This record gives sequence, C-alpha cells and structure tokens, in this order.
Amino acid sequence: MADLSVDLGFLKLKNPVIAASGTFGYGLEFQPLYDLNLLGGFVVKGLYFGPREGNPPPRLAETPCGLINSIGLQGIGVEAFCREVLPPLASLKTALIANICGEDEDEYARVAEYLSQYKGLAALELNISCPNVREGGKCPAQGTEATYRTVKRVRQASSLPLITKLSPNVTDIISIALAAEEAGSQAISLVNTFLALAIDLETRKPKLGHVLGGLSGPAIKPLALRMVFEASRKIKIPVIGLGGIFSAQDALEFMVAGASAVEVGTANFVNPYACPEIIKGMENWADQNGIKRINEIVGTLRV
Ligand code: SIN
Repeated sequence: MADLSVDLGFLKLKNPVIAASGTFGYGLEFQPLYDLNLLGGFVVKGLYFGPREGNPPPRLAETPCGLINSIGLQGIGVEAFCREVLPPLASLKTALIANICGEDEDEYARVAEYLSQYKGLAALELNISCPNVREGGKCPAQGTEATYRTVKRVRQASSLPLITKLSPNVTDIISIALAAEEAGSQAISLVNTFLALAIDLETRKPKLGHVLGGLSGPAIKPLALRMVFEASRKIKIPVIGLGGIFSAQDALEFMVAGASAVEVGTANFVNPYACPEIIKGMENWADQNGIKRINEIVGTLRV
C-alpha cells in the first residue's frame, strides 16, 4: 500500500488531505460521521479574539458550478474555542489547525498569542484573505506590504507553525507569496475564494445580504491550479493547494501542480464524507500507478 504521508517540514501529516476552514465547523460537527483521525488534518472556522455574528443573511448563493458565500467570519472567538472546543479535540491524532483573523495587526497577534498558550494545535492558518469582512476595502493578502507586515507581526507573537492563506483576488500571486515567505510564514495555503456576485433577476437585487461574496467549488479549480503552479515554482516553503477539490483526481492534480498537501472545502457541503473518500481514492490511484510515496508526485507537471 502506498505511503500517503507528507512532511511539510514543520508538520508531518499522515496523508495530504486537510479539511478546509469554514466548511468543517470546529470539527466536532463531523465527529458523528467518521473518525477524524483518518484525516491529514482539519482547519477550524476563523477565530477573532471575541465572538462575531457575521454578515446579514442570505449568506450563501449556489451557482451552476460553485457556491458564493458571504458569512463574514462568524465565530465563537478564541476564549470560547479554548474553553469548549479545544479540550475534546486535543487528543485527536490528526493535525488540528486554527484559522486566525483580526480587524488589524494587533488583533491577529493577540489571537495568535492567546492560542499559543494551549496544547493541541499543530499550526495556525493566518486568514488575511477573506473577501467578506472589509467593506469596500482590501484584505491584507491583496498587498505585498500588508501581507509582509501581518505575517511578521504574527510570527513574532507565536511560536506555532504558521500557514498563510492567500487571496486569488490579486494580479501577481507570486509577489504576495514571496512576501509571506520573507516575513516568516512556513507555508502558504492557496487559494481563498474569488470575489463574486449573484443576482436575482426578478427583484434585481443581489442574492447575498452583503452584496458580494466569495466563489468556491469546481468553477475555481483551474484558476486555483494555475496559482498553485505559479507560486510553488518561485517560493521555497510548501504550498497547500485548495480550490474546487471534489475528488482524488482533483487533489492529485494539485499535487502535480506543486502542492505538498491539499485542503478540501466546498465538497464537504455536498458530501460530508468527501475527505475520507478522497484519501481512499488517492491511495487506490497510487497503488494502481506504482507510486510508493505520494510525495513523489509533488511538482511533477511536465511542461
Ligand atoms: C467568511 O466567513 O466570510 C468566509 C471566510 C473566508 O473566506 O476566509
């Protein structure tokens, strides 16, 4: 049987499949469905310091080939997370990753510092790329300087491994990825959602309460693959690829493009068993193709 384990340098995963933030709750919601220890890891919903209600409804709009969300980073905040959620999850034998948010660099640092006091987290995923929270403004991941400053600040606030989640809503993903690397991020996750609009023709109103939202799902897979390919060739730190991964084949394509691991997001809404099924499918593909270690295929696109 193929060895599916991958080593990100700062973190060893038993397989490359990580459930993506915002599609997997706090993990506890999926526990009745399957053994979370099957996963390479999972990322919990974004955490600010305090609780947040998120954006006004409607917050989801389906499209023919994807989903637009405008949740607005609703969450329970770090104190409730560490008190109520972390204890039951801390004994899991899978990588538990906290997605962290902030209104400004100070809050990002406070969240990172607070979480670092607790045992059980394998890494932080720095969310500087949510398209739904800054009214008319840019998220930090849309600028090289803001990316650099935020990563650097969080890097100084916590000794936990740091994965920076980048936005696809940029013209030059390479410069942003390089800024995250230079500031001390140990990996990047790529991509968050694409800024999008859904319209109700009858009312001529936007379908989402927040007007714009972020598009995920199969529609964005080729766009995400391109960005993973471009960024992974220019930076030394590992890339965790995501964007429309619904099958083992999708996940393997991301690895061939240059991703060392993958995150599965929207697929969890369609099929809550998507992650374990993708892991099994990757194992079967590796066995059928004589691949002994799955990490052999990373970045092997023949161009
Ligand atoms: C949201 O909560 O609005 C989505 C989270 C994200 O895109 O980072």
